[in-house]
Amino acid sequence: VSAPPRILPYGRQSIEADDIAAVVAALQGDYLTTGPLVPRFERALADAVGAQEAVAVSNCTAALHLCARALDLIEGTISVVPAITFLATANAVRLTGGDVVFADVDPATGLMTPETLHDAIRSAPKAPRAVFPVHLAGPSCDMAAIADLAARVDMAVVEDAAHAIGTTTRQSAPVGAGRHAAMTCFSFHPVKTMTTVEGGAITLNDPGLAARLRRDRSHGMIREQTEFLRPELGASADGLPNPWYYEMQEPGLNYRLTDVQCALGLTQLSKLDRFKRARAQAKAHYDTLLAPLAPLVAIPKTPVDQDPAWHLYPVQIDFDECGLSRAEVMRRLRGDGVMTQVHYVPLHWQPYYRARHGARNLPGAERYYARTLSLPLFPGIGEDGVQQVAGALRRALRG
Ligand SMILES: Cc1ncc(COP(=O)(O)O)c(C=O)c1O
Repeated sequence: VSAPPRILPYGRQSIEADDIAAVVAALQGDYLTTGPLVPRFERALADAVGAQEAVAVSNCTAALHLCARALDLIEGTISVVPAITFLATANAVRLTGGDVVFADVDPATGLMTPETLHDAIRSAPKAPRAVFPVHLAGPSCDMAAIADLAARVDMAVVEDAAHAIGTTTRQSAPVGAGRHAAMTCFSFHPVKTMTTVEGGAITLNDPGLAARLRRDRSHGMIREQTEFLRPELGASADGLPNPWYYEMQEPGLNYRLTDVQCALGLTQLSKLDRFKRARAQAKAHYDTLLAPLAPLVAIPKTPVDQDPAWHLYPVQIDFDECGLSRAEVMRRLRGDGVMTQVHYVPLHWQPYYRARHGARNLPGAERYYARTLSLPLFPGIGEDGVQQVAGALRRALRG
């Protein structure tokens, strides 16, 4: 009897001894939630992506929501979001009351392009106030061109870089450096390239805006005396500051990332380059093994002038030509221990957005969705894991 196949998830965290030791040390420290590791992680993250500021938050959905709030994307405003992304990108705008217009994507890469953004702006009922480019699977959108277009129509740019921590481009330096965006949002969910369990961050180059985001992530509390609207409550009659006093001028949320999570973030961040290299090696190995399956299977292409940190390995499969449904291919792969996923169901098809906007036709997104399948990709997959997946896919598509 042959051994059962190794079960390969589509994504998996890499937790090592130093991560565990750092978390244990933080748990034994004086602070569990807001403590010294939060600013230390923020500094390390900002330095890693080349931004002035990083604001750590409880997850990327919170990060996107704080950005939408900071930009006042309230009722009556429109923002552009690509149709191929996770729910959270569009929901962040809806949660602040604004509406979204979905941009189509390149059917080969799933990325919004300057052309699809241009079409979305033209189709919007009024001038959009913001755009949220999504760096799907790791490669960056063409941010120089997108930022150029956004500047011409006075639209703020917020990158959803949940998939793209560690990606560098020749044009824009690392994703998150803020050369072409006001704010960049990251996710540290376990399937992402580095993890803080749940977690996220916003990087930016505007200290005033960073202070606002930090305030909003913690109930809107202000403790700086110089900012009090009621200074008489912030100090005693003898002039001594009242150390307990805080002030709220706008309600905020509890979107804090904990000290314990930041301990993990620091060790994970120190290994980001290694994680990125291991993912790139696995991708290169897949590319070689899957090349013979062309044209039924198209491998994800690396955009010119980019060094992406590959979060996913999404292949495009011509299921019609194979005479197999995607569900059947996924079922066969699962039988060989290979777990796959689909990123993502187009947002304009979600009942909530369809009810708001009516039926929309976004052919690039629909074609991308019809063919995409994310194969397992994570640092620990190894050559044997990639071989297992490639072999299973070859067998699954055989009819
Ligand atoms: C593109 C994209 N945006 C936003 C999010 C939300 O991230 P989080 O799970 O950290 O809230 C995700 C998470 O899967 C994502 O993939």
